[in-house]
Amino acid sequence: MTDTHRILSLIDEIHNTLIWMKTSGCRGFEKRPPCATNSADTDETPETLPLSRPPLLNSPDDTPAMSLYPQDSIDAIQRDIANCQRCKLAKTRTNIVLGDGAPSAQLMFIGEAPGFDEDQQGKPFVGRAGQLLTRIIQAMGLTRDQVYIGNVIKCRPPGNRNPEPDEISACAPFLNRQIAVIQPEFICALGTFAAQTLLHTTTPISKLRGQFHDHDGIQLMPTFHPSYLLRNPEKKREVWEDIKLLMNAMGLEWPPLSK
Ligand code: URA
Repeated sequence: MTDTHRILSLIDEIHNTLIWMKTSGCRGFEKRPPCATNSADTDETPETLPLSRPPLLNSPDDTPAMSLYPQDSIDAIQRDIANCQRCKLAKTRTNIVLGDGAPSAQLMFIGEAPGFDEDQQGKPFVGRAGQLLTRIIQAMGLTRDQVYIGNVIKCRPPGNRNPEPDEISACAPFLNRQIAVIQPEFICALGTFAAQTLLHTTTPISKLRGQFHDHDGIQLMPTFHPSYLLRNPEKKREVWEDIKLLMNAMGLEWPPLSK
């Protein structure tokens, strides 16, 4: 990473943290001395801001504090990511694939990274795995337009290799901003990579799936990735169990009422 990329990434991270604080209901900064960890720290002024993230706060009138950060939007994220050069995937990608769907969806699907078809078309989940995901969404009684579909990584890793740590950290602010703007009630993490990245764990997907996990106050259901299902069709039963749990929590009928 060059110095320029490091600075851009730092600005993204600060921006993202401020959005996170705002959407969590934080109304300002607390003025108190930092914890003294060594003798040099004790020379700091009492005005120094605490570095740790603040606890989740509710607004003073006790209404839920999840109001949208007024300056951020999917369009603004799209503008900020345009021609992104923050990691080496910029050299090999055709298109950046930010995401697709309803900007205030109740449910957000998050996969790993664009594959060949997504890279060509600039849209998430449009290849064979995407067609299977579309069928899953339709079986829930929904359309792709009613949910939001995105990925942890926005550019295709060459040969569909696993994303690397520098690529994950360069892209993380964009996914965090998407989640902060959309404010989904539910996230369905598709596959090992998305589930482990979002839940900060190395637990295998087979152990994570089948139950909800908390992701900053959002109910997250991990399930097998549609590409994995194409190779292991016997796993479809477990995916339907996960989807049924999601539908039940979302108040959707199973089987969906025909229209
Ligand atoms: N696999 C993913 O994880 N994401 C896509 O967009 C397509 C395939």
